[in-house]
Amino acid sequence: MNKKYRKPFIAGNWKMNMLASEVKPFMSELKANLPAERSCDVALCVPGPLVPAMVKAGRECKVSAGGQDCSQYAKGAYTGEVSALQLADLKAKYCIVGHSERRQYHAESDMLINAKAKILIENGIKPIICVGESLEQREMGLTMEHIAYQVKAALSGISSSELRKCVIAYEPIWAIGTGKTATADQAQEVCGEIRAIIRKMYGARSARAVQILYGGSMNAKNATELLAQPDIDGGLIGGASLKPVDFSVIVKATEQ
Ligand code: 13P
Repeated sequence: MNKKYRKPFIAGNWKMNMLASEVKPFMSELKANLPAERSCDVALCVPGPLVPAMVKAGRECKVSAGGQDCSQYAKGAYTGEVSALQLADLKAKYCIVGHSERRQYHAESDMLINAKAKILIENGIKPIICVGESLEQREMGLTMEHIAYQVKAALSGISSSELRKCVIAYEPIWAIGTGKTATADQAQEVCGEIRAIIRKMYGARSARAVQILYGGSMNAKNATELLAQPDIDGGLIGGASLKPVDFSVIVKATEQ
């Protein structure tokens, strides 16, 4: 589908890595390697305590800060949780929801992910909603069925104007942190299907506007081919987002 309706978007996911004191040096090196004028959006989604440092350092080089998770509740007695309002108050622009690591290690359900996406939108933060199949599901031929279910569940009750504030990330679980990237054809096939599902749910206009990212061992070497696919608008980068030079190469690969 014609990409001119969508801005490329490269988001890093630092997961549970790095310290607040490391943000500034990292961002100085990133800034030195990034073109000052860019046509793509760039964000780094960092652990909650690092958000203020990322907001501050990111201002200097047009990199937005994001969180990696939030509570489904607005406020109250939920020890250990971070609210969408608290992230918004710190000027986070994005927040990942439904990452497979949270689905797997924290038993997050599709209903919970839907509630988190909604509360983020209410607080002016763009959710980056992750979906993806396991290796078993892929081998059993259940990929599309599973992705369709996850996308529909995550977007349940979200209006077309709210969809404009959402980003979808396709992250096959078998490709995350394994060095085993989906081929460009495999990634395109699923991202194209996600856009088709959104077209059915919201119509052609919404489908052509929504940013769909690929994530899973995307790196400086394979980014160009993945980002050239018609329905892949950007990347959600784990390991390679911890290396400023590699991350900058991926950002530059959007300018093809
Ligand atoms: P890797 O790029 O390390 O495979 O991680 C991908 C990911 O989980 C991003 O959210």
